[in-house]
Amino acid sequence: MYRDQLKRARLFEEEALKKYGKDHKPVFHLTPLTGWMNDPNGFSYYDGKYHLFYQYNPYDVHWDRMHWGHACTEDFVNWEYLPAALAPDQDYDAFGVFSGSALEKDGKHVLMYTSVQETKLPHGMKAVRQDQCIAIGNGRDYQKSIKNPVITGDMLPKDCSREDFRDPKIWEEDGVFYCAVGNRHEDGSGQILLFVSEDLENWSMKSVLDRCENRYGKMWECPDFFHLGEKHVLIVSPQDMTAEGLEFHNGNGTVMFTGTFDKETGKFHEETAHAVDYGLDFYAPQTVETPDGRRVMTAWLKSWDGLVHIQDTKWNGMMILPRELELKQGRVVQNPVRELEQYRRERVSYENIRLGGTAGQAEGSELEGIKGRTADLTLDIEEGEYDSFEIRLAQNERFYSSIRYDRKDSVLTFDRTYSGLCRDYPSVRSMAVRDRKGKIRIRILLDLYSVEIFVNDGEQAMTSMITTDASADRITFRAEGPVQVSVEKYDIVL
Ligand code: FRU
Repeated sequence: MYRDQLKRARLFEEEALKKYGKDHKPVFHLTPLTGWMNDPNGFSYYDGKYHLFYQYNPYDVHWDRMHWGHACTEDFVNWEYLPAALAPDQDYDAFGVFSGSALEKDGKHVLMYTSVQETKLPHGMKAVRQDQCIAIGNGRDYQKSIKNPVITGDMLPKDCSREDFRDPKIWEEDGVFYCAVGNRHEDGSGQILLFVSEDLENWSMKSVLDRCENRYGKMWECPDFFHLGEKHVLIVSPQDMTAEGLEFHNGNGTVMFTGTFDKETGKFHEETAHAVDYGLDFYAPQTVETPDGRRVMTAWLKSWDGLVHIQDTKWNGMMILPRELELKQGRVVQNPVRELEQYRRERVSYENIRLGGTAGQAEGSELEGIKGRTADLTLDIEEGEYDSFEIRLAQNERFYSSIRYDRKDSVLTFDRTYSGLCRDYPSVRSMAVRDRKGKIRIRILLDLYSVEIFVNDGEQAMTSMITTDASADRITFRAEGPVQVSVEKYDIVL
């Protein structure tokens, strides 16, 4: 019976598109066609377009029996939905088609995902099994391989979990296919296993690429691994992190290591570790290499620790606006894809204006033309002796979200306490910013339900959801102490 799952999902999608259309969707952030979305999957370039799949339950706004939803784009901003690509319709993936990745091979689009099944053990006990499978297609329809699963728990050493073994990231280098998979070691914490293959169907385990050893959370989910400049970068999404200063917060987090990769031994040697993003809603990032050589990252714009949902919508979940990654002075910097610039309209700018001076300023200042809910806004604050500077966004008489920079501590804080949330989700997060004597550049991408903040040309990013009604469109400024600031704002129009 469950062999028809994909057909059923696709029919459901057609109906949903007719019934709900755009249904209060953000303007430039990808959401599921209908229902629930989590991790980005299969971010790849195929047949002239970027393809992005996602963890997907078309039937409801909650996580359940994962499918792969599908969308494509030429510019990372304007997306076109394609029919669901994969459904849990085989014995080996009946419990769910979990996260994975994709690449092009011989003109075909190859997807690799984690199949989840429940098996019966001797004595009647049940156990979950996670294995890796492939599906081959043309950018729209995909056929699961008869050789599935192609990487199984039987190939693992004894100290590796067969239950927590997921999220394969595949790539090709010099005619060899590599696959990095998240796994749990018997010490309870995560590790990334590396596999190699010549044909994508026959795999062997090469090495443990890197191990958590209980330093950064527990299970490491959704690995990505690539070279950037003269370094290699390993990205993981650990569960069960514990807070460390303002670098890592409790719960599900993301860590980006830079280091070197020894291809002979298959070992990664870590040099630096940072949070990928410091906001409240960011998880499971995944990257693609563009034909012009850029490394572009997307991620799920939500957190398992605060499942913020816009009420009364038939969709739940979205992706960040993809970002370009670059290595600068040993640190990975991230900035919105340059393609966004084509969608900028109605430039409004102010050069070196003075705000603040006296403490308080309950009302805040408004600048003519600086308002809206789909904006690309950059503030350049000059070196100075002020105490703090605050921007309030998505504001009306009752609600706002705040971005505040405290100069003395050099800390930037995002606070959505008064954004209209009706549950007690985590709402405040701070990050330590490089101290430049008060000089700071803050770029904000504001869409209907999200705020993405980039500090000092992408040295750090901070991404969070808001649920404030779209009509709350005021932007106000406050300062304690005199601040000299330049402001540039565009509307984003698609
Ligand atoms: C991460 C994750 C992945 C898994 C998927 C299931 O958010 O837990 O490890 O493949 O979600 O939907």
